[in-house]
Amino acid sequence: MRKKIIAGNWKMNKTLSEGLSLASEVVNIANDEVPADVSVVLCTPAIHLAQVSAIVKDSETVSLGAQNVSEHESGAYTGDISADMVKSVGASFVIIGHSERREYHFETNAQLAARVKLALDKGLTPIFCCGESLETREAGEHVDFVNNQLKESLFDLSAEEMSKVVIAYEPIWAIGTGITASSDQAQEMHKSIRTSLAGNFGAEVADGISILYGGSMKPDNAQELLAQPDVDGGLIGGASLKSRDFIAIAKSY
Ligand code: 13P
Repeated sequence: MRKKIIAGNWKMNKTLSEGLSLASEVVNIANDEVPADVSVVLCTPAIHLAQVSAIVKDSETVSLGAQNVSEHESGAYTGDISADMVKSVGASFVIIGHSERREYHFETNAQLAARVKLALDKGLTPIFCCGESLETREAGEHVDFVNNQLKESLFDLSAEEMSKVVIAYEPIWAIGTGITASSDQAQEMHKSIRTSLAGNFGAEVADGISILYGGSMKPDNAQELLAQPDVDGGLIGGASLKSRDFIAIAKSY
């Protein structure tokens, strides 16, 4: 059985006090209402992690994640955050390779491979993001493009390491646009990702990996997306900023 994961990516939103209120609301509602087999993850701005950690620490349902991590252990990297630091504040997940970071911070597949490896070595669960632009999809190259992202960032891991990675398929054209991939488009890509993982790591590993969908997921479209056989959860941006909407998605399984 694959883990069902609903992760909220707050991106660069919420002051500390706003973030703490949102986290408290999510924890309170999730503890009562989210089914026991669904894990909820809050990926907050790094500066909020330590204090949100205190809010989620007694919850069986909600855990904490960072939005990025350095590929370096420690040292003179002003403004960066190490895997040890993320771990030390009680976070257990980290988003790696979000398309916004690939675009605005020029993160490369090779750099992301190093981040995934270091995060795993430090006991964090990477949520590795992949996904194509509209141009790439319209050229019919989306499957090859995503496969190449997986190959260059993940395929040097051992099967045991890979089994600890969560993947998020986030088509760039669906992020923050209100345009969601259709359930067929999502299923097609998730299945292709799983097939590609099976080819490199074996069917058993591939069958155990949670593949999340991200891109304008909302309470009114979540159920159909989450009903697809290879969609194991969601990585939610905008709708994770409202506790009721976010929890409604987690409950729509
Ligand atoms: P939206 O849900 O706002 O489209 O964002 C998706 C996303 O990028 C999550 O990482």
